[in-house]
Amino acid sequence: MHILKTEKLPRHLAIIMDGNGRWAKARMLRRIVGHRKGVETVRMIVEECSLLGISCLTLFAFSAENWLRPKTEVQALMMLLKKYIKMEVPRMMQNNIRFNVIGNREELPSDVNRVVDDAIAKTAGNSGMILTLALSYGARQEIVRAATIMAADMASGKISATEVSESLFAGYLYTADMPEPDFLIRTSGEMRISNFLLWQLAYTELYFTDINWPDFGKRELHKALCDYQDRERRFGRTSDQLQARG
Ligand code: IPE
Ligand code: IPE
Ligand code: MG
Repeated sequence: MHILKTEKLPRHLAIIMDGNGRWAKARMLRRIVGHRKGVETVRMIVEECSLLGISCLTLFAFSAENWLRPKTEVQALMMLLKKYIKMEVPRMMQNNIRFNVIGNREELPSDVNRVVDDAIAKTAGNSGMILTLALSYGARQEIVRAATIMAADMASGKISATEVSESLFAGYLYTADMPEPDFLIRTSGEMRISNFLLWQLAYTELYFTDINWPDFGKRELHKALCDYQDRERRFGRTSDQLQARG
């Protein structure tokens, strides 16, 4: 196993969980079997991140664009989501995890919204890791929504045009209360962002692995985090400057 340093973990880890379908196809199984196996990976990764002391874990579970998939797959995914969230609440309580959802919740079926509300309410008092599921989430949609609400606040006089800044704008995003992701992992070999957290990923360290999500285990997580720990985040400065600052 790779040796992790406890002091240099990402505060916020974001994951694009990809490759469930290909995992299943390679085994001549139905895509939904891959999604089911993917849920097991989610449970394990959530627990491990919480034990490691990561403050925020954000998982891309269903994109705004995923509504374009065959109806049967969308329905199966919604059922699986509902089952997972319902089933996980006791473990979230045990692990002091606070549950959160970002995305266009209006598009989700009402039974899914009910279990989401219930999980958010039950875990609201927990002070450990914040687990955010991105559901029916698209970053461009999020940015347009933020701009629309901001424009309404301007029209009503709540804010003025001269006040607009990066931080004011970020306050209108779903992630207003969260630090930006330090590290993004995408599984299954695809090297794209797929409309995930476009604003928030501006200075995030990116990591791509060929492993499909159902096969992504603790070992792969530790390997990815070790890779993160070896990186120098310069934010535009030079390496010498960073060294001088200590
Ligand atoms: C990720 O796996 C899960 C979701 C997008 C819901 P995919 O279903 O995208 O798997 P591939 O990319 O087809 O292998
Ligand atoms: C991105 O995966 C969305 C999730 C992981 C939920 P996709 O598999 O839908 O991404 P694209 O469309 O292939 O880029
Ligand atoms: Mg995919």
